[in-house]
Amino acid sequence: MIDDIKDLSTVEKQKLIARKKFFACFGQCFVGIVVATFAMTLFSLFMVGDFLQAFTVASAAVTTGRFVGAFAMMLVLFFGVYSFSVRSGKGKPSRDFWLTCVMVVISYLLSVTGATKLSVFAMPLSLSTLVLLELIGRRTATLANVISGVLVIIAFVFEPAKFDFGMIVSSVICNCMGGLLINFLMNKHFNRLKFLIMSMVSPLVVQPLVAALTLVSGAEYIDIAWNMLWCYGANVAAALLFLPIVSILEGIFNIADDFRLSELCNLSNPLLKRLASEAPGTFNHSLVVGNLAEACASAIGENPNMARCAAYYHDIGKLKAPLYFSENQSSYNPHDELIPEVSVSMITSHTLFGEILARQNRLPSEIVDICRQHHGTAPVGYFYRKALSLKEDGDLAVNKYTYSGPKPQTKIAAIIMISDTIEAAMRAYMPDTKEEYEARINRLVDEKIEMRQFDECPITMGDIAIIKKTIIEVLPSIHHRRVDYDKRKKD
Ligand SMILES: [Fe+2]
Ligand SMILES: [Fe+2]
Repeated sequence: MIDDIKDLSTVEKQKLIARKKFFACFGQCFVGIVVATFAMTLFSLFMVGDFLQAFTVASAAVTTGRFVGAFAMMLVLFFGVYSFSVRSGKGKPSRDFWLTCVMVVISYLLSVTGATKLSVFAMPLSLSTLVLLELIGRRTATLANVISGVLVIIAFVFEPAKFDFGMIVSSVICNCMGGLLINFLMNKHFNRLKFLIMSMVSPLVVQPLVAALTLVSGAEYIDIAWNMLWCYGANVAAALLFLPIVSILEGIFNIADDFRLSELCNLSNPLLKRLASEAPGTFNHSLVVGNLAEACASAIGENPNMARCAAYYHDIGKLKAPLYFSENQSSYNPHDELIPEVSVSMITSHTLFGEILARQNRLPSEIVDICRQHHGTAPVGYFYRKALSLKEDGDLAVNKYTYSGPKPQTKIAAIIMISDTIEAAMRAYMPDTKEEYEARINRLVDEKIEMRQFDECPITMGDIAIIKKTIIEVLPSIHHRRVDYDKRKKD
């Protein structure tokens, strides 16, 4: 098998790996697909149909139809979420699917309950849209909204005698439109209050549609008012349920949505407080890297909040032995008493310890990965040169003096690597002239490219050029030095 893989071209290898990843993810999610299918179908039989009658021979075909319909919709949901997640390169397909699955089931249960117990227009289908828009993204939220609507239609389609199917379809259309409208109008970076206000205002736009569809179905004017009220009420209920559900799910699935990122960026967070007191130099360095990374992420269309948060935590591994890092030293340097090999192992281990500490503190997986990846497989140049100077023959393999990797896997990880390298270098020495300063930044980034540190992430040369330009513009304002008035007087 290994020989077979060796013979394949790079494209074929990538296809083989992609196929393996797809089937592994499908295996992890299949239980969710089956459980969701059974839960929703049994619930609809209980609420909409005749539960005991459904399992007789006479109803076997209809009941099978319900199960097959729900199963097919869940399969469509899986393929859609998987494809969006892989294409975005940011999500984790199985986690995204489980999360979407949970939200579709919750929306479905509430909608079927509302439609059977209150009014056919009491379907809070926009709940899944609101939550998934915040936790995953627009496309997944839209898909979940449509799939929830189709599942509700499947629940009622086999019971034409009990429910007015035309009204059910009208309700699903209006409530799905409410969700789609929220999806269109909302911005993922809205604060919680804006999110709530928008989710309460946008259903008003759907009300004329509710009135029109109710009129077409031949209902009386009083029904129009009631249907509008129930439809609006369902959307308001979705908006009120949004915050508690997001808070619960972001904790369970450990998701780095903007609410969670802003909480993690709060400097009173215990881990950041510990960094400030035990490794003040590293803490200051992380804040500056945060400013640079945020500007770079905005410039290339990545999430600036994620970049800032990852920068704040990227060096937490230095908490294990802060004094071994130059930014935390004053006069005493413990490396003076160590051979270069030991110094290198002390320094390089901060990525591994950072990963462990981030996991222990339940930081989002994106940040855990960046703690490990932000130095890639680059060598620790100073100690390599020191070891080389001690060798008599002047020949030394560099691989024992490098970080263990992996290389950055995402654009944000690459941004952190670049911002980190430049901040550390400029802290040590800030050139006096503009030309020298720009040349130094270009050289530092080009060195990383030559070391092939960005080979495993989707960053382009265009992105790197924008990042360089952004840092050249932003860094001087961060490293702004006060004017030396005494020196001016002397001059
Ligand atoms: Fe580091
Ligand atoms: Fe750093």
